[in-house]
Amino acid sequence: MSRLVVVSNRLDLPPGNHAPGGLAVSLAAILRATGGLWFGWSGDVVAGAQGLQRRTVGNIDYATVDLTPAEYRDYYHGFSNSVLWPLCHGLPSATASGAAHYLAYQKMNERYAGLLFPLLERSDLLWVHDFHLLPLGNHLRAAGCRHRIGFFLHVPFPPLQQQVEGKALLRALLAYDLIGFQTAEDLLAFQAAARWQWGASAIADDGSLHAEGRSVATGVFPVGIDVDAVSAAALRMAPAEVAPWWPRGRDVPRLIGADRLDATKGLPLRLEAYKYFLATQPCNAGLPDYLQLVTPSRNDLPAHQSLRESIQVATIAVNRLHTATNANEGAENLALRCAFTAVEHTTLMGLLATADVGLITPLKDGMNLLAKEFVAAQPAANPGVLVLSAYAGAARELEAALLVDPRDVHEVARAIATALNMPLSERQQRQLTLLAALKRNERSAWQERFLERLLDCRAYGEARKRATEGPY
Ligand code: G6P
Repeated sequence: MSRLVVVSNRLDLPPGNHAPGGLAVSLAAILRATGGLWFGWSGDVVAGAQGLQRRTVGNIDYATVDLTPAEYRDYYHGFSNSVLWPLCHGLPSATASGAAHYLAYQKMNERYAGLLFPLLERSDLLWVHDFHLLPLGNHLRAAGCRHRIGFFLHVPFPPLQQQVEGKALLRALLAYDLIGFQTAEDLLAFQAAARWQWGASAIADDGSLHAEGRSVATGVFPVGIDVDAVSAAALRMAPAEVAPWWPRGRDVPRLIGADRLDATKGLPLRLEAYKYFLATQPCNAGLPDYLQLVTPSRNDLPAHQSLRESIQVATIAVNRLHTATNANEGAENLALRCAFTAVEHTTLMGLLATADVGLITPLKDGMNLLAKEFVAAQPAANPGVLVLSAYAGAARELEAALLVDPRDVHEVARAIATALNMPLSERQQRQLTLLAALKRNERSAWQERFLERLLDCRAYGEARKRATEGPY
């Protein structure tokens, strides 16, 4: 039986950091079930950081690395968050001092590989996650690693053809035995980049990549959630805990949004759409209560500071409009409350369960697990309605949600109105269809499909016999 070794930039470290994000929550659940080694960033930035911290909690061995201030600036923010992240999501990338940041990105991956390789046991199965670690496999191979290594990209596959380092990054991906994507579109984007680099014949009929003596299997493995765990968590929140979040009581319908502070989440446009909805819908006591949670994230990025300001300005504009048209409502009864805070996962599930409409409208998103969690948290007797961006990976499975173009404020406003007026029978019908989609692809199935496929791959040593060069 192979030990599972998971590598990700972010970990969910016990005793539980506050809001570790969907990726870390998913990986924690998987490792709790399988046991294994979890390697990645400690979350700390320490001058002169070099070594590794080890600890074991339950059946998970944690091996974490601190980043130096320069690594944090250049590898994490400089290249990962300011070049790759925007490229993956179709936003303009930072280009200033790109070469130095790219070098830091490669160096950090090399350092991770050097620290991880000595920890590996012979039969380990390695699973590397996300855009921070695209070249990790390549550095592991250079260190002598012959294990099977799978790579899963949680975000949309970037158009590497547009990036000066694109060719090198694509070549580095040849070190993996299996590369997994969230959606068929991401797989197609990867294949387009591979054809650009190696020609059409590099992609076989089964979708695998054959180039430079290497064969790399590929597949679509949408990340799922544990539906029963989410509905159980949603039920755990007592009505008294819910009440302060919804000060206008149960007489008005409730809208909820919950996002990381990030340009990809489309928050200013969402608030614009909500303002348009308020301006165009007849104003009466039935106007909703909108709770928008915003988890602070990547705070050192200047773009995030100005994003926060524009969200605050938009929030004021919405509330001004609401109070102007509802003279009988005081300032304490704001139509929109935008809370810049990290909310503990169980609390969030409880809040989702008590909302009538989930507004999840990212401009582009690899999956968006919150969309799935909103559905799983809904009470069967009176389910809420999900308004979901067609550009979130989750939309591929959640077709029974109200799918919208997040850039079209009129369309989003209309969808809010449709959601609020939807009859119970239609809500229940949609909820059944959405739940069936979630159940077809739970988190455990995601993990099993990916790891079974990885075990099917030929061991790296065998493939290497036909290779002509050193590590890619
Ligand atoms: C996205 C990425 C993850 C990342 C998370 C939080 O979901 O796909 O890899 O961990 O955002 O971002 P952060 O920069 O705080 O890790």
